[in-house]
Amino acid sequence: MNTEKATRIRAMKGRERIAALTAYDYSMARILDSAGIPLLLVGDSLGMVVLGYPDTTRVTMADMEHHLRAVMRAKPNALVAADLPYQSCLTPQSAVENARRLVAAGAEAVKGEGGRDMAAQVKAIVDAGIPFIGHIGMLPQNAVAEGGYHIKGKTPAEKSRLMDDAAALAEAGAFGVVLELVTPGVAAEITRAIPIPTIGIGAGPDCDGEILVTLDLFGLSGYIPRHVKKHWDFGEQMRAAAVEWKQGVIDANHKTA
Ligand code: KIV
Repeated sequence: MNTEKATRIRAMKGRERIAALTAYDYSMARILDSAGIPLLLVGDSLGMVVLGYPDTTRVTMADMEHHLRAVMRAKPNALVAADLPYQSCLTPQSAVENARRLVAAGAEAVKGEGGRDMAAQVKAIVDAGIPFIGHIGMLPQNAVAEGGYHIKGKTPAEKSRLMDDAAALAEAGAFGVVLELVTPGVAAEITRAIPIPTIGIGAGPDCDGEILVTLDLFGLSGYIPRHVKKHWDFGEQMRAAAVEWKQGVIDANHKTA
């Protein structure tokens, strides 16, 4: 497969900050790509913000393939990465098999949650020629088991674990790593310590880039996480447009009665 786009994202470290967003369908991918976003993630967050599940653990490989295909129909210039969903990477074999399924549906890279525990899976995916982005810190796929979405890196033990996880992912061949809800100081240290870009979400200003769930940024998910500092309320604009349009339909009915 062509790994040029992933190589280009990796080479942005230290040169240009990486602004990444999620995309789950054709129309959004077309808009975000035309805005020049260099990395689009078909994230398993789609389970919550598109499918209405309470968490990401119910997202299946078939869900990921379906949304990924829709995004790829926009033929984005951006690198399109897709999430390996809950329990799709329990062994190196299943990780490669599922990464290949995502590639067959159009993915140009895959992302998976976990650090040292995922190193063998990451190495197997990378050895199969598939670019891999890691994801450490608060792992949404573990949030139910952990009883919520907790900030990571607050204790020396957590910091040391995160540093080791980031190093293990880089060592295994990942071309980037998402740091989710990691304390800003620890995120900055990881960013200085590893040779691959860190892409933060709720991890302070010192990562090599930032990623957000697009529906949070645009006010369409019904929830604005604290780390979304600036957002647009397109949800309210859409509601107002629907009300105005509905009124137009009603008024037209009156005129013809
Ligand atoms: O699923 C997702 O959208 C993600 C991002 C929040 C990084 O993993």
